[in-house]
Amino acid sequence: MKKRIGILTGGGDCPGLNPAIRGCVYAGERLGYEFVGFLDGWKGIIEGNTVFLNKDKVEYIIMQGATILGTSRTNPFKKEEHVQKVLENFKKFDLHALIAIGGEDTLGVATKLYEKYKLNVVGVPKTMDNDLNATDYTFGFDTAVTRAMDAANALIDTGRSHRRIMVFEVMGRHAGWVALFTAIASAADYVCLPERKIDGADMVSKIKKAYERKKFAMVVVSEAVEIAEEEKDPLQEVDQFGHVILKERGMGEKIAKYIESKTGIETRFAVIGHMQRGGQPTLFDRILGTRVGIKAVELINSGDFGKMAALVGNKVIGVPLKDATGELKVVGKDWFDLIDILF
Ligand code: F6P
Repeated sequence: MKKRIGILTGGGDCPGLNPAIRGCVYAGERLGYEFVGFLDGWKGIIEGNTVFLNKDKVEYIIMQGATILGTSRTNPFKKEEHVQKVLENFKKFDLHALIAIGGEDTLGVATKLYEKYKLNVVGVPKTMDNDLNATDYTFGFDTAVTRAMDAANALIDTGRSHRRIMVFEVMGRHAGWVALFTAIASAADYVCLPERKIDGADMVSKIKKAYERKKFAMVVVSEAVEIAEEEKDPLQEVDQFGHVILKERGMGEKIAKYIESKTGIETRFAVIGHMQRGGQPTLFDRILGTRVGIKAVELINSGDFGKMAALVGNKVIGVPLKDATGELKVVGKDWFDLIDILF
């Protein structure tokens, strides 16, 4: 009888998930494994909702955005009976191992299941935020930034015609990678990152200078950026992992209003939101997704559980899951000099 591997995708979706699923199935079938997909993240293994996966099913998903398995932000550790369900269904579906494809939250659950219950779990890192430790890049990031870069270029066109300041809000949660790379790649004049409290005077003076020179200016804002005067809302909504739902904060709009009030120059804002997360994966994300998917199966095959397939330099290697989820990888001080040169 063939050994069976389960796969699930959890957390926010991103392009590259389907190439990763495909990489797992291609590598696994060659080694004699069969696959079962759990639908909608950890919810699928709690409720026992599955779909059969084989090479025919995944052959042409490498160019598809989203995830054929669906996803959710379900956290089994919110309820003890859900953890028990995961353990029961692991046995019931006769799993030799489970591949959890996800970000900090999904892989945090995988880490606990491995450490507390000794389940045969391996992780595949994904997130458009690129904020996972122990891997140089996560798939989803390149596509999200490429999408944002194109949108930013379009905003520059209209900003230039109308002689306006354009403010562009991008996602990325509490890490500024998406904002930083978008701003660099689209020749923005200023970037606001969660890792660096906004210095209002510096921002206004630099934007004014840019505007005087070319009669338009472009600012990229991360959704999680902090304005010193902003009051924290104690009632703000959180998800099952305790994260504030950032989309309601409207930082792009707030910063656009601030800039307009301080400069007297007509300012508009745009929010790209979930458009960054859909659509076809870029070449980079197709290849990275495929490589980490294949590596996850190799880790299983060599009995290397509790590991995650990580890109380190140009190699994909196994690293301990807990190294990836302990703390977020944010934009560090080593980037600040470059930021000061460019903005
Ligand atoms: O973590 C990925 C991400 O897209 C963040 O950049 C964003 O803050 C969040 O997910 C949005 O979550 P949701 O899709 O649940 O609104």
